Amino acid sequence: MTACVRVAAVGDVHLDADVLGRYRPALEHLAGKADLLLLAGDLTRHGTPEEARCVAQEFGGLAVPVVAILGNHDYHGDQQDEVAAVLRDAGLTVLECSGTVVHCDDTRVGVAGTKGFGGGFAGACASEFGEPEMKAFTRHGRELATRFGECLAALDCDVRISLTHYSPVPDTLLGEPLEIYPFLGSYQLAQAIDSAPGVALAVHGHAHAGSERGTTPGGVPVRNVAHPVIKQAYNVYQLSVPAALTPA
Ligand SMILES: [Fe+2]
Ligand SMILES: [Fe+2]
Repeated sequence: MTACVRVAAVGDVHLDADVLGRYRPALEHLAGKADLLLLAGDLTRHGTPEEARCVAQEFGGLAVPVVAILGNHDYHGDQQDEVAAVLRDAGLTVLECSGTVVHCDDTRVGVAGTKGFGGGFAGACASEFGEPEMKAFTRHGRELATRFGECLAALDCDVRISLTHYSPVPDTLLGEPLEIYPFLGSYQLAQAIDSAPGVALAVHGHAHAGSERGTTPGGVPVRNVAHPVIKQAYNVYQLSVPAALTPA
């Protein structure tokens, strides 16, 4: 069994025709550096199929599997299903409250993904109280986190990875205005991650002015891979395959 898995990740590439080709030169060498690539949402600017075709051109046909989720920008045109279809036609796996298992040699790498939603963090979070709009806002985040957590826990794999657009922790929002934290993530995503067995890595985007590194209350490493944060085509994280799974 593979001793470690190399996970490349980037989010918030916000592609349109004018930035086509920004990432591709670095991606051509990806196979020697990573076993799979995660795209953490906000792949387009306004969520149009035309922009999605730019994403397909940039991230399609790579030598490693590509697993993606959509971000809030990819929903803006109310054409998220068409956007996802364009990406799937290009060979990308697109998740939403669903999971997939990628075989890296003989190691099964499980990825569960959701866009997620806001709501805030401990001591400063929205609650399902008051106006219907407030209840709907809070309920949306709770329902996504619940369904996502079930998918994450159900993955039959050797290495388990969480892929969200919104952040599960405030740590990786450091640098963003405190006032907008409730629109950047939710503690409910961290609860879902910490409830699943042995999550090795939680990747997210969305917080362009945030920080790269954080940790869930349960100790899972969190990485904000928004392109404006990592400032390169992708970051690569090496995950150890649990010792019990490696041959003696
Ligand atoms: Fe973004
Ligand atoms: Fe976003």
